[in-house]
Amino acid sequence: TEPVVIAVDGPAAAGKGTLARRLAAELGLPYLDTGLLYRAVARRVLLEGGLPTDPAAAEAAARALTPADLERTDLRGPDVDQGASQVAAQPAVRAALLDFQRGFAARHGGVMDGRDIGTVVCPDARVKLFVTASPEARARRRWLERQARGEAIPLEEVAAEMAVRDARDAARDVAPMRPAEDAALLDTTALDAEAAFGEAMTLVQAKL
Ligand code: C5P
Repeated sequence: TEPVVIAVDGPAAAGKGTLARRLAAELGLPYLDTGLLYRAVARRVLLEGGLPTDPAAAEAAARALTPADLERTDLRGPDVDQGASQVAAQPAVRAALLDFQRGFAARHGGVMDGRDIGTVVCPDARVKLFVTASPEARARRRWLERQARGEAIPLEEVAAEMAVRDARDAARDVAPMRPAEDAALLDTTALDAEAAFGEAMTLVQAKL
């Protein structure tokens, strides 16, 4: 029997990570945060003094990625947010990360969160969720996360940065962020984490 893959795609701060992690725990499946791969590539480029928009630097970093790169604690800052989406727009970077993601899915199955899991990485995933929320709700959530980490940053700035990143992710030529045709849409604007999990479990159970 094929390992079960659940794709959880959607824009920044829609609640994908929390939801995907919880689904994985509930269903006894491994979890893979694919955004972390792009973040680690961007971090590597920045540490080497390069620009995430430079195709040669970005491809070299993607090919050189190691498990230790994914365990760094500095992958969530605003420079890495933007850098990740800049390296992610480049075909050679996406190609370099594809085998790892597909291999992970083929070996153990899992709940995978990202932007293109249902469309490109695992088009045959058993369940596909596209998780969204209003831009205001998402900016507010990300702002609260930053506040909790002690970062004093205006809400408007968080909202503006997020809008730039989402627009770049949706407009790129290769594997743009969009719902797969057979994805179930889950809007979490009015849902807390608990309610979002309940809705997601209902959608998942209908397909298992
Ligand atoms: O999900 P997260 O915000 O950590 O992703 C960081 C960036 O990585 C996204 O803005 C997007 O550009 C890129 N990404 C992607 N495809 C994925 C996961 C993330 O392009 N499957």
